Amino acid sequence: MCGIVGYVGEKNATPILINALKKLEYRGYDSAGIAVLGNDGIIVRKAKGAIKYLVEKITGEVVKDSKNLSKEECEKAEAEYERQIEKTADFVKGNIGIGHTRWATHGEPSDINAHPHTNVSGTIAVVHNGIIENYAKIKNWLQSQGVVFKSQTDTEVVAHLINYYYEQKKDIFYAVLQALKKLEGSYALGVVCKDFPDRVIAARKDCPLIVGVGNGENFIASDVPAILEYTREVHYLEQKEVAVLYADHVDLFNEDGEKIIRKPSHVEWDLSAAKKDGYAHFMLKEIHEQPKALTDTLRPRLVIENNVPVDIKFDEFDFDENWKNAGRIVITACGTASYAGMVGRYAFEKFARIPVVVDAASEFRYRNPILKKDDIFIVISQSGETADTLEALRIAKKCGAKVIAITNTVGSSVSREADRIIYTWAGPEIAVASTKAYTTQLMCLYLLAIKMGEVRGTIAKDDYLRLLKQLEEIPEKAKRIVENQPVIQKFASEQFNKAKIFYIGRLFDSASSMECALKLKEVSYMHSEAFAAGELKHGPIALVDNSTLVVALATEPALYEKIASNILEVKARGAATLVITQDCSGAFKNCADTTIQIPECENDLASIISVIPAQLFAYYCAVQKGLNPDMPRNLAKSVTVE
Ligand code: F6R
Repeated sequence: MCGIVGYVGEKNATPILINALKKLEYRGYDSAGIAVLGNDGIIVRKAKGAIKYLVEKITGEVVKDSKNLSKEECEKAEAEYERQIEKTADFVKGNIGIGHTRWATHGEPSDINAHPHTNVSGTIAVVHNGIIENYAKIKNWLQSQGVVFKSQTDTEVVAHLINYYYEQKKDIFYAVLQALKKLEGSYALGVVCKDFPDRVIAARKDCPLIVGVGNGENFIASDVPAILEYTREVHYLEQKEVAVLYADHVDLFNEDGEKIIRKPSHVEWDLSAAKKDGYAHFMLKEIHEQPKALTDTLRPRLVIENNVPVDIKFDEFDFDENWKNAGRIVITACGTASYAGMVGRYAFEKFARIPVVVDAASEFRYRNPILKKDDIFIVISQSGETADTLEALRIAKKCGAKVIAITNTVGSSVSREADRIIYTWAGPEIAVASTKAYTTQLMCLYLLAIKMGEVRGTIAKDDYLRLLKQLEEIPEKAKRIVENQPVIQKFASEQFNKAKIFYIGRLFDSASSMECALKLKEVSYMHSEAFAAGELKHGPIALVDNSTLVVALATEPALYEKIASNILEVKARGAATLVITQDCSGAFKNCADTTIQIPECENDLASIISVIPAQLFAYYCAVQKGLNPDMPRNLAKSVTVE
């Protein structure tokens, strides 16, 4: 949710900032801007829309749209775009700068509301991710002092407030520290000042910010991919820490300005993970990466003897008495991650016979939640930075719960604040719509549920070993589904104009349906909903007509007949129908218009893979409509504000 970057070094900052912003575009893309400190002071350039419009504004050249181009033409256009980015160095010159890609909160997307924002004289520039909750109060006060505001943003108050304190001592570090004391809400900030042309100042509270430590150059960024090209040594700034970056070193401070000595962490990520590798979009690449991501998440947790999995073990913690005697599992998350939690609920209930509550973090945090001593509290978050999930985690800790976090992001706030961490080893997920993070979250939840069943004696030894063997085969089955992509692509080309898409299912499939419907609405903007199949006739069937596609997930053989009846009911009302199933006995042959077969697997584990055809369907519907699935409108990857 908004991406910020900063550079200080020997090179021209402009193309470096723009390239880094491109890697953060998934965090927000309604406007972008840079502020570069040159010989004549701070040069600010901003533009509404994607980063390419900023490049156009700087160079005066049109950036070619790569939509609907062949692969070859697309590569050519990309190379040309890279050249145009390099060319920005000829127009905006300076070795220090900050940049921003925006997801609007206060004020519509526009050139004026785009960051950076400056003080009145243009000598201090600020980029910001987060929300300044008391901005109206500060703005009123500054206006009463004669300050004239240009934008509708909350961020502009930060620039003027820093200026206010700067005027007291002409010390930019002092001014930033004083201003931070007055800010309520969340922020990751980058600041440059004309009178201190050797440094960038950065600070964070409740929004992620990293400092990249390079060789004769240093960086700030909201996320690692932005700077991976330049360095793998990073400081993950802690709450309320402030960093001052010079070309040759970085100083870290606490909120009182006291120096902190800390070594940077080394980032192990593969650089290619942040590139498209010949795929048209990150979303498609990430769907295809699922077999590997599932293997990487599963393998370190399986104990193998004589080539056979015999146990589950997490290096991160032991399955002690707390697991054995737990009274409840409480799962809290947002969006896709909460839908993973819904599938997890079925898994824990099935395998460990334990009651489970799944809660949207945005509800949990305001409900004065009732947590018991023997609850096991789990938060799930791909980014590890989601504001509501983070707050839910903190509330649970305050209530005395030991929090287990399932997250994909090493060094994220969730990973630092939870008591126990289980990483989904999915690699960086760039596309806004979550795919591989979701299926790897499911893998972790299944591992926990099955192991808990073994510990509590609710799974017989033979069943336990069979489930482990079946889990081991899941990545290969996921691979077979992604290879079936052309079938789904064709189906999408026939259905992408449908007005309504309903996903239905029972048990595990009803939970999976929610994620399938979310994926479709996010990237294709088609109206899609999920219903427990048995609920259809209690209301939603009134919506069904010949503009409807009903997709049934059917992975539980005992309920095939029930699903077949649901299919016949909606068909009788004009709907087109698709069944995604592992059945190969023909249970749906005489009712569904189309059947997509997924590889046979243990019924209760099928949720990990049955979602993949729906991910591909969502992707291809978006492509058919000429949309960019990687950057759906109004969305951002990391929701660091409430
Ligand atoms: C959907 C999606 C969102 C996120 C949600 C939580 O594709 O990506 O619904 O799942 O915003 O994000 P994390 O998992 O980062 O906490």
